[in-house]
Amino acid sequence: MNPKWWKESVVYQIYPISFMDSNGDGVGDLRGIISKLDYLQDLGVDVIWVCPIYKSPNHDNGYDISDYCDIMKEFGTMDDFDRLLREMHLRGMKLMMDLVLNHTSHQHPWFIESRSSKDNPKRDFYIWRKGKNGGPPNNWESYFSGSVWELDPQTDEYYLHLYSKYQPDLNWENPVVIDKLHEMVQWWLKKGVDGFRFDAIAHIVKAEGFPDADNPGGTQTVRAYDMFSNLENVHTLLQNLHDQVLYFYDIMTVGETSGLGPERALDYVGDGRRELNMTFQFEHMFLDAASAGSGKWDVVPWNLLDLKKIITNWQVVLHNRGWNANYLCNHDQPRSVSRFGNDLFYRVPSAKMLATFIHMLEGTPYIYQGEEIGMTNVAFESIDNYRDVETLNYYEEKRRNGVPEEQIMAAIHKKSRDNARTPMQWDNTFEGGFTTGDPWLKVNSNYMEVNAASAVKDPDSIYHYYKKLIALRRQHQVIVYGEYQLLLPEDTEIYVYTRTLENERLLVILNFFEREPIYELPDDMISSPLELLISNYEPQKGEDLSHLKLRPYEARVYLQRLH
Ligand code: NOJ
Repeated sequence: MNPKWWKESVVYQIYPISFMDSNGDGVGDLRGIISKLDYLQDLGVDVIWVCPIYKSPNHDNGYDISDYCDIMKEFGTMDDFDRLLREMHLRGMKLMMDLVLNHTSHQHPWFIESRSSKDNPKRDFYIWRKGKNGGPPNNWESYFSGSVWELDPQTDEYYLHLYSKYQPDLNWENPVVIDKLHEMVQWWLKKGVDGFRFDAIAHIVKAEGFPDADNPGGTQTVRAYDMFSNLENVHTLLQNLHDQVLYFYDIMTVGETSGLGPERALDYVGDGRRELNMTFQFEHMFLDAASAGSGKWDVVPWNLLDLKKIITNWQVVLHNRGWNANYLCNHDQPRSVSRFGNDLFYRVPSAKMLATFIHMLEGTPYIYQGEEIGMTNVAFESIDNYRDVETLNYYEEKRRNGVPEEQIMAAIHKKSRDNARTPMQWDNTFEGGFTTGDPWLKVNSNYMEVNAASAVKDPDSIYHYYKKLIALRRQHQVIVYGEYQLLLPEDTEIYVYTRTLENERLLVILNFFEREPIYELPDDMISSPLELLISNYEPQKGEDLSHLKLRPYEARVYLQRLH
């Protein structure tokens, strides 16, 4: 079983700019977070992952760091940070920092020096190349549209940026860069932080020689993710970081690693690898993308059989060999209830069903702020209301290519990262109680109905359901460590799985849609008593478990003692 505190924990993710504003400037801040720690403690979460709070010009909401050892002025001061950490620890909660080691801001002093001349001692802190045939050094496409290369007029060379041009990639081939990053990680650990989520860590190594990617369509740039994702040397670099720095602290680490399946994930998280505790996988995040190559914006309906296949594969392959990080939403994804549930007619039951799904899997469950009250996507009419750099770049590129406005906005309504970034809805007062000023991004207009204050008051709310799920995790080891087994692999509506640990078995029954299918519990399960641990509907009087009619988005978890 190899017990660890981070396996038994539940993580809550905070996107600080949208969590709570304490000073009326329309932007969330550290004092705002402190003011809500009691709410989080009451929910019962153990670890709080705070998205980047470092000094930053904020082109990508803090994922563009200009000083790793200072706090973004909009968010507060280092004293506020120290207090935040203390207040969390006083409440028995741990703090996981979000650290961006793949790139910095273009305003980081290292980059300012690096770009100043070709012979500057920091030139090699970043990746500089000469152009080719009057254009960029190769045809790789950035995650945020356009080329990964930006021509810098100061020295007439290109620098590489996998994300926006305000996020130049660091050169991990330079040992001085590595030393500086290690030193900085250590500096945070000495302050007492309890872990890291390593942003974009899969990309710190790029294909040698920066070769062009195949380009059958002859387009200007191509998605060439294989050229800079999960390359072999990433593991050597992570092992060094582990052995020289992380190993000496009892912390939790999770890497953001797109583009791999569970077998390759074991290279990061396998027992004995000395790299990371877990990784965020992305396979299920592409279930509603038209094709692997089409990127996220081309949306198609997702399919339950595919979800089962992906999740089952991760559950089975990592069992006893590594550890999963389970999530349906974060600051880069649409709201889970809008994407995988039904936010129109079954918001409450479907949000509870999805929560049951995630919390009963093997792995550490992650809750994204607002998910615990069933916050939904937004659909702002005008592009002027969007703030996300990825969304704005996508819009501009598509407009330039003549794609009709309605088509672009439809994709943005489904997939923009701003769906998850609208301010947290605390109550039904002005701007949902998030700020007394003008919020940096509009509050979702449904805050009168969907807000934390009313959820806390209502014992049947999604919030109280989460609270119960979290409490159950503490009471039953089988929820943390039990082995997963899929039942009904071919059923297109019901997702059923068991988790078994020694003489205990959980049976998790999830109706993923609004139809009312019948589930016939297998005979061997009905033969010994089933204890209902949690469900999102009251059981029906006189129901027959051998022929159970499930209600829309119904979820039930039974515990059974085996002989
Ligand atoms: C992944 C982060 O989650 C995302 O928000 C960010 O834009 C990119 N990495 C670049 O740092």
